[in-house]
Amino acid sequence: EKIPVRIYPDLKEGSKFAAREIADLIRSKQAAGQSCVLGLATGSTPRSTYAELVRMHKEDGLSFKNVITFNLDEYYPIDNDALQSYNRFMHVHLFDHIDIDPKNIHIPSGEIPKEEVKKYCLEYERMIEDAGGIDMQILGIGNNGHIGFNEPGSSILSRTRLITLDNSTRIANSHEFANISEMPRLAITMGISTIMKSRRILLMAWGPAKTAVVQKAVEDNVTEQIPASLLQQHNDSLFILDEIAAADL
Ligand code: GLP
Repeated sequence: EKIPVRIYPDLKEGSKFAAREIADLIRSKQAAGQSCVLGLATGSTPRSTYAELVRMHKEDGLSFKNVITFNLDEYYPIDNDALQSYNRFMHVHLFDHIDIDPKNIHIPSGEIPKEEVKKYCLEYERMIEDAGGIDMQILGIGNNGHIGFNEPGSSILSRTRLITLDNSTRIANSHEFANISEMPRLAITMGISTIMKSRRILLMAWGPAKTAVVQKAVEDNVTEQIPASLLQQHNDSLFILDEIAAADL
């Protein structure tokens, strides 16, 4: 079963579409007096979507007062305010510029003592359930097909947990750090099953580095070796691509 795709001339247009989908959901939940639970991603891919949401907040009056967020992942260990932390990324690119209630923001912490991580991950799952589950999950994709930090081989049954980063991921993301030896070897990530339980999934991918893996995820066999291919088994997932990332479809 192929994953539906929408192809845009460039990432700006694709990001505007994604931001509109998110804003429409927030507004329709607002109109119904309900909260809107978003699963959020980091990395370079969603940056312009977040910029567009900030613009919609400032210029179009889009409010995030009813929004509850759960981020996918975080390096481990890392200080929450470290330059490379996903906690900091989310504040710099989105949360500092909108009217979200800080108590509605959830991002895995890289500061949890190792012996408490297991309990912390269970608690993260429970908080998602208590919020009513994720209405819409935003995803990027790693060059090796990972979603969140679910590296190849991650089980479809996996839940939020501590994982070891692949070497290829450490190399791909090392530009975020002064040098690769400073990069954490571990991360806390939502699991594949956590992601699959979201009611709707939007995965974005831009540029030539993603062309090959997008083709595998969308059209090839479903395999845990390409975690994003598991999204073929989700009944409401959509890939939002630029023409270059879609070139091999
Ligand atoms: C990172 C993140 C993923 C992200 C992916 C792609 O390691 N953990 O959530 O989707 O890799 O990153 P980028 O968007 O920078 O290409």
